[in-house]
Amino acid sequence: MCAADFRRHAGAAVEWIARYLEDPAAWPVLPATAPGEVRAALPAAAPAHAEPFETILADFERLIPANSTHWNHPGFFGYFSISASGAGIIAELLTAALNVNAMLWRTGPAATELEEVATGWLRDALGIPPGFDGTINDTASLSTLHALAAARELHPELRIREEGLAGRPELPRLRVYCSADAHSSVDKAAITLGLGMRGVRHIEVDAWRRMRVDALRSAIAEDAAAGVLPLAVVATSGTTSTTAVDPLAEIADVTEAAGAWLHLDASYAGSAALVPELRWVLHGAARADSIVVNPHKWLFVPIDCSVLYTRRPDLLKRAFSLVPEYLTTTGTGEARNLMDYGVALGRRFRALKLWFVLRAFGTEGIAARLREHVRLAREFAGWVDAEPGFEQVAPTALSLVVFRHVPAGAHDAEAIDAHNAALLERVNASGEVLLSHTRVGSVYALRLAIGNLRTEAVHVRRAWALLRAAAAPTAPDP
Ligand SMILES: Cc1ncc(COP(=O)(O)O)c(C=O)c1O
Repeated sequence: MCAADFRRHAGAAVEWIARYLEDPAAWPVLPATAPGEVRAALPAAAPAHAEPFETILADFERLIPANSTHWNHPGFFGYFSISASGAGIIAELLTAALNVNAMLWRTGPAATELEEVATGWLRDALGIPPGFDGTINDTASLSTLHALAAARELHPELRIREEGLAGRPELPRLRVYCSADAHSSVDKAAITLGLGMRGVRHIEVDAWRRMRVDALRSAIAEDAAAGVLPLAVVATSGTTSTTAVDPLAEIADVTEAAGAWLHLDASYAGSAALVPELRWVLHGAARADSIVVNPHKWLFVPIDCSVLYTRRPDLLKRAFSLVPEYLTTTGTGEARNLMDYGVALGRRFRALKLWFVLRAFGTEGIAARLREHVRLAREFAGWVDAEPGFEQVAPTALSLVVFRHVPAGAHDAEAIDAHNAALLERVNASGEVLLSHTRVGSVYALRLAIGNLRTEAVHVRRAWALLRAAAAPTAPDP
């Protein structure tokens, strides 16, 4: 593509993006598409000959947005809302243009050093101590996997890096502890690292869905008596189901006494520490060995961007550094090579979008938006409390409201769950909003997660109106 053609086509694409961002609510948040429809609309094989770019862009416009779930939609309240901010999108464009692969300092000096600077800025703004070193991964799942791999290096005498875990009956069983509400990425990391699902012990939660420290202490003691080695404790600040915040300081006491690694999954709630009155979400985090915060969740950085902070970068490096001859470099002194801090060799230049977003909003600009999201969530929670038949299923600590509707006279738990599942279908079928669900204990509950940059009071009011209408006894079945 020559420069003139590039200007023309990129200009058309940027124009499309600008129109899209002007009104992402022009699309239904959830597309009316069935599995296989997109595939069926596409040719079975790649074209043998070049196609005009206009045709490619026209097919994009025809096929892709209409069959996409619109995470940028202001009515997106499912899972944890995320946003592609303008600054982040522009950074992604420039990242793609540079196409840097920052596996070594030499292959990406600016990317390597900007990663250190941007994660350092974020760390300081969140109140995480300077001793924590940041590296960027794609997702929290990988950050947690890396943290637990580093935790294994607390025990070099087990020679796991050299010998592996398989076929070694002489090794103790290694165990990771997390709450019953911890994210499934902890279990997946255990599966991947060869600890197995039995290598994870889920600790009971209290009435606020926080890990029970007494239960953690007893579980570790019971395991120790059976010869199990406590490898790590994973605490969560902002659980997926209810945004519960585990009592980190007390968990740190137990973890330290057990000689285990403390990892904090703050992938959603960590960003809230930018707001002075919400800084409690990271209370005690200084005592963790590692902390994951996802700027792609609640910090307006386009997916993917997950920062893993650790005060033991030496152990992270010991877990992952492996340098074949073709990747050795000379003359770069102490410069950091990012490939040494994770599974992946190739590394996208993700720091650019974090840097752009932090500068384009300023930390106070981000804090003001997060504060407003929390205010909106509390307002919605107030409506739930005030409306007969609706109830909160968990406290609203941050920007997520977990609630359900119990029809008058309903007592059967399964019927109430089914009623709420149908309610969710009805509301999501509107195309105006998307909510998701969870189970809190045994109770099926709806989740309204506010976190999108473009969500305003009007969108939250609309969600509430749709929910009330869908819960009315006369509402049709989905
Ligand atoms: C608390 C928590 N941890 C981890 C994850 C996994 O995040 P990722 O998609 O970045 O792997 C999520 C996802 O929502 C989450 O809520």
